[in-house]
Amino acid sequence: MVFIKMIEAEMASVAKEVGAFIDSMLGKKDTLFKSAYHLPSHGGKRMRPYLVVKSCEAVGGERGSAIAPAAAVELLHNFTLVHDDIMDNDTMRRGVPTVHVIWGTPTAILAGDLLFAEAFQAMLRSTLDDRKARAAASALAEAAVRLSIGQFQDMSFEERDEITEEEYLEMISGKTAALFRACAEIGAIAGGGSEDSIAKLGAYGWNLGMAFQIFDDYLGITSKEEELGKPVGNDLREGKKTLIVIKGMQTRSRDMVKSLLGNKNATQAQLASLISSLEGDGVLGYVRGKALEYVEDAKKAISSLPDSGPKKSLAQLVEFAAMRKK
Ligand code: IPE
Ligand code: IPE
Ligand code: MG
Ligand code: MG
Repeated sequence: MVFIKMIEAEMASVAKEVGAFIDSMLGKKDTLFKSAYHLPSHGGKRMRPYLVVKSCEAVGGERGSAIAPAAAVELLHNFTLVHDDIMDNDTMRRGVPTVHVIWGTPTAILAGDLLFAEAFQAMLRSTLDDRKARAAASALAEAAVRLSIGQFQDMSFEERDEITEEEYLEMISGKTAALFRACAEIGAIAGGGSEDSIAKLGAYGWNLGMAFQIFDDYLGITSKEEELGKPVGNDLREGKKTLIVIKGMQTRSRDMVKSLLGNKNATQAQLASLISSLEGDGVLGYVRGKALEYVEDAKKAISSLPDSGPKKSLAQLVEFAAMRKK
């Protein structure tokens, strides 16, 4: 797939500019800043900053005006990751040990708090005029609220036996798609887009986020740790109600799902046989198909925006979200 290589190269170029901005904010030597800088310094895909920049360009804005806002969303994203890894008991991310594993949970909580505060600082250090900065900061704060609600639902679902597909979709809408929506809106605000184009890009971002999280849950069980950079199978061991689990419970794989769900000692071999059972029962196909529905809706959401290079990049980004390997 040629476009995947292209989009990765384009994301890397945005990542470089955004990375320099983040360095300037976090590159201090003391322990707290080092712990906060740990995940950002190991990169990640940097999809969200790319989404900000391309949404800005898609409404005819200058790329330069989107860099600080793009750094803001990436800082907020990294904040969520630090706290999420504490909540999920995950020891690896981006191929390196997680913040709480290296510095302990109390410091990791503070590292997250610092990243959260610096996210808003980055937004306010942008070149946006007051009206745009206020709208962009408000979109980011709104996403942070929704994210907290979604993360709380994710956690509380671990304690419940039967979660519906609808409840799962509402949960990922909060924990993941809300920030993707905000990224697209913030880019469109920075670029001086009309209310209509901000709303269309927001809808695009939300659908992209939904596809992204469904596919992320899929990779979280079907991929390899070396490729993904984070543990495989832990969602299941932690009792997470992903769409795979919800659907799997409605098929002949039910007993197998039940025996591994929440089972901290589930082995790789048991996971492998579950995966082949789920594939045979059509569960994995269903989940891939669901992600692709959101991919199509994302593309439809921006179909009436004027054709341009950045619009094409956004269409490719959403394809990438449901085809990526990590
Ligand atoms: C991880 O996001 C958190 C989810 C919403 C699943 P990414 O997969 O974008 O993480 P990085 O930034 O590339 O590491
Ligand atoms: C993704 O959480 C959403 C946030 C981090 C807010 P997950 O727990 O599903 O994602 P990974 O698998 O840890 O990246
Ligand atoms: Mg997690
Ligand atoms: Mg989580």
